[in-house]
Amino acid sequence: MSEFRVKAISKLQAEFSVPGDKSMSHRAAILGGLSNGVCTVRNFLPSEDCVNTLNAMKALGAPHEVLDTLPGYGPVNLRIHGQSMKLSQPAAPIDCGNAGTGMRLLAGLLAGQDFPTELFGDASLSSRPMGRITVPLGQMGANIETRGEKPGCAPLYIHPAKLTPITYEMPMASAQVKSAVLLAGMFAEGKTTVIQPAETRDHTERMLADFRVSTRREGNAISIFGGQIPEACDFTVPGDISSAAFWLVAAAALPGSRLLIKDVGLNPTRTAILKVLSRMGAHMTEIVHSSEGEPIGNIEIHGAELTGTTLFIDEIPNLIDEIPVIAVAAALARGRTIIRNAKELRVKETDRITTVVNGLRAMGAEVDEFEDGMEITGGRPLHAATIDSCGDHRIAMAFAIAGLFASGETVIRNTECVNTSYPGFSHHLDAIRHERSQASDFSLPTQATA
Ligand code: S3P
Repeated sequence: MSEFRVKAISKLQAEFSVPGDKSMSHRAAILGGLSNGVCTVRNFLPSEDCVNTLNAMKALGAPHEVLDTLPGYGPVNLRIHGQSMKLSQPAAPIDCGNAGTGMRLLAGLLAGQDFPTELFGDASLSSRPMGRITVPLGQMGANIETRGEKPGCAPLYIHPAKLTPITYEMPMASAQVKSAVLLAGMFAEGKTTVIQPAETRDHTERMLADFRVSTRREGNAISIFGGQIPEACDFTVPGDISSAAFWLVAAAALPGSRLLIKDVGLNPTRTAILKVLSRMGAHMTEIVHSSEGEPIGNIEIHGAELTGTTLFIDEIPNLIDEIPVIAVAAALARGRTIIRNAKELRVKETDRITTVVNGLRAMGAEVDEFEDGMEITGGRPLHAATIDSCGDHRIAMAFAIAGLFASGETVIRNTECVNTSYPGFSHHLDAIRHERSQASDFSLPTQATA
């Protein structure tokens, strides 16, 4: 079992880029495989989650060639051979690993096929709710059995079905649910509409537009007409702002620091973390250098004495994955930070309300836990602790950042999981920990280490 050992730093001066965006890499694998030709995908995230989705598409008849690999991790540049919406029955059940996005999007894709499939995942994924997708897909005529030990959970048995379009009002703000219904809608005759209660990340809609599949947006309703065949295109995945978030918090909370994160995705449905860190007192500039399709650019951040803030209700879906590390920033800030209306955190890779609250308390922070979030009174000095990630990549990485500000040596146990979203995190952590600042210190190594 691998671990991180982290001590406090006094300096952070660095410029680097983080690996490709996880959400976009899943979608590129799926839409590339559905397209009518050959698509080159660059800067694909070579993480276990995304490679599982790529392999799922291969098992469904859409092969890929690897153009470049990050040795020890996986493919970064690849060529996907699209099958013009015609998938074939896989020879075996499909492994989605740890990825909720992979499983939920693939379930939408497979709900309307004329062959059966089985999707399974690891213990964490097998305990996450799948009713949120089987309900709308069932309304479209899909026949999906959840055969997990826990009711409503994976493995999913997807029987052949012919889908009809629906209008579905989502009870929760979830991009995965929205995307599952839109992907299913591509195989239903007519107009399928999803109404979201709040804005969620819109990568599916943007990428569908890149593939010349038209969707219509009216207020919070997004519609798609079935029967369109995605046109093959090339796609470069920007860096993942959710991975950049760890370093942004480290720099924000350290007065005198300067960090430049390059070529990162700046989609406005993902950048609420920047607004929150600015409200907390960090000095930041965002420079968008390409705004066609997915905005991409650089973020420069300078550290300051942070102060607490309240997360707005409509920001929550926009920064849900960043809340563990925002909680760390809150513990380092003066005053109170209020994170409520975030019950969704309880059904992520772990119950992230409990894992964050327990971890912060173990390091000496003052935290109150609520069913839908937490309140953190920051400013108490953090001390080292041994934290178990519980197999959750974002918990492992968030507490590694906390360790950079704690007295003593913080040990994070069970850190292999970071490879599900951030291959090379430990290498970047090493460079930051040793206060290195040369660009070469941040180029990813050729061996996977967690
Ligand atoms: C994702 C959507 C989010 C996020 C997840 C990735 C996606 O979940 O937490 O890591 O790629 O669609 P929701 O479905 O709760 O929005």
